[in-house]
Amino acid sequence: MAFDAEIRQALIEQVRRFVTEKCIPIEAQVGETDEVPQAIVDEMKNLGLFGLAVPEEYGGLGLDMETECLVALELGRTSPAFRSVAGTNIGIGSQALVLFGTDEQKEKWLPGIASGDLIASFALTEPEAGSDAGGLKTKAVRDGDEYVLSGSKRYITNANKANLFTVMARTNPDEPGAKGVSAFIVERDAPGVSVGAPESKMGQQGAHACDVNFDEVRIPASNMIGKEGEGFKVAMSVLDKGRLHISAVATGASERLIKEMVNYAMEREQFGKPIAQHQLIQGMMADSQAEAYAARCMILDAARRRDEGENVTILASSTKLFATEACGRVADRAVQVFGGAGYITDYGIERFYRDVRLFRLYEGTSQIQQIVIARELMKAAKADQL
Ligand code: CAA
Repeated sequence: MAFDAEIRQALIEQVRRFVTEKCIPIEAQVGETDEVPQAIVDEMKNLGLFGLAVPEEYGGLGLDMETECLVALELGRTSPAFRSVAGTNIGIGSQALVLFGTDEQKEKWLPGIASGDLIASFALTEPEAGSDAGGLKTKAVRDGDEYVLSGSKRYITNANKANLFTVMARTNPDEPGAKGVSAFIVERDAPGVSVGAPESKMGQQGAHACDVNFDEVRIPASNMIGKEGEGFKVAMSVLDKGRLHISAVATGASERLIKEMVNYAMEREQFGKPIAQHQLIQGMMADSQAEAYAARCMILDAARRRDEGENVTILASSTKLFATEACGRVADRAVQVFGGAGYITDYGIERFYRDVRLFRLYEGTSQIQQIVIARELMKAAKADQL
């Protein structure tokens, strides 16, 4: 069901004000301190941002995908670290529960996720299973009413703050690929769970990623999400949605960078006139705008079609591939338009350039999106549906 247009507009304007007045002024500070201030986190809680994608009956805003993307486009207009604070609760940390959880599981965890009192992370990647997610080795062995989990996860966003993890683990050792995997909720305080120190990263300071280790962690069998052996499908369905959300965040960043480059080009003078009057600069501004607009259209079309119940695997991967690669090109042009200033920390453009590089890696690299798109095309061709 489409979200009420007036409520949607009010929410978008509220988020835009929050981004403009509260986040943008402290971008440099967050970059330097590697921390989003607690006052900002509290404000995000008050705005309901942690519960954007949690149904209203569990305390969230219950946004449809189109509205969530419109909000993510706004959040993207500042350093990605701000969005990341609530990002796993909005997306990959909560959606296995939202899409596949039982009523009991939803009642137990979703209200805390929606309020931001519980931070939820998504634990799929392992030291030896990144793009080949189906090759994961973390195992979960049934023992009576419990499973015993052992293994290591890598680069888990928000792990240092997480209270819960959606963990993909192998329940059938005889099934080496995607089929032997199941999904579980694991609470941080379960004995045997430990979290490593945040990684030192190229960008996105203020957002943290850590290893998570499971050393014979006992969890109730009732913590399994979906059916045994269907954990990979759970993970992929969560990522279909996550990839649209990330596309919107990346395109918000593109739009912000276009604003920065145009403003700068209109002020900065060379050869006796503002550089915006030079056609080679205009080319970079125009290409950036065309790409950001195309990405916005793809995001909103794919989101609407998901809201209508369509399978959006191919659309989500196409959108993530295009939107995040486009964002990389826009950030590169922004540095170019700023010239030497684009390379100097004070202007903040080099920080964005480093920050947006991650969009092309996480939630599936650009090459994984290409693989998904090509496979879906071949599937459709076989079914004579192209
Ligand atoms: N929805 C539902 N089911 C799906 C699906 C989808 N989108 N995609 C695949 N499946 C199902 C398939 O239908 C198949 O089931 P059947 O055998 O019953 O048909 C099963 O899952 C296995 O699918 P594949 O055979 O396609 O599996 P594969 O091993 O060949 O891998 C892949 C496919 C696309 C490469 C996948 O491994 C993938 O997406 N890899 C990238 C992983 C990724 O995105 N990691 C990011 C981690 S999260 C992150 O970055 C978060 C963070 O903290 C920042």
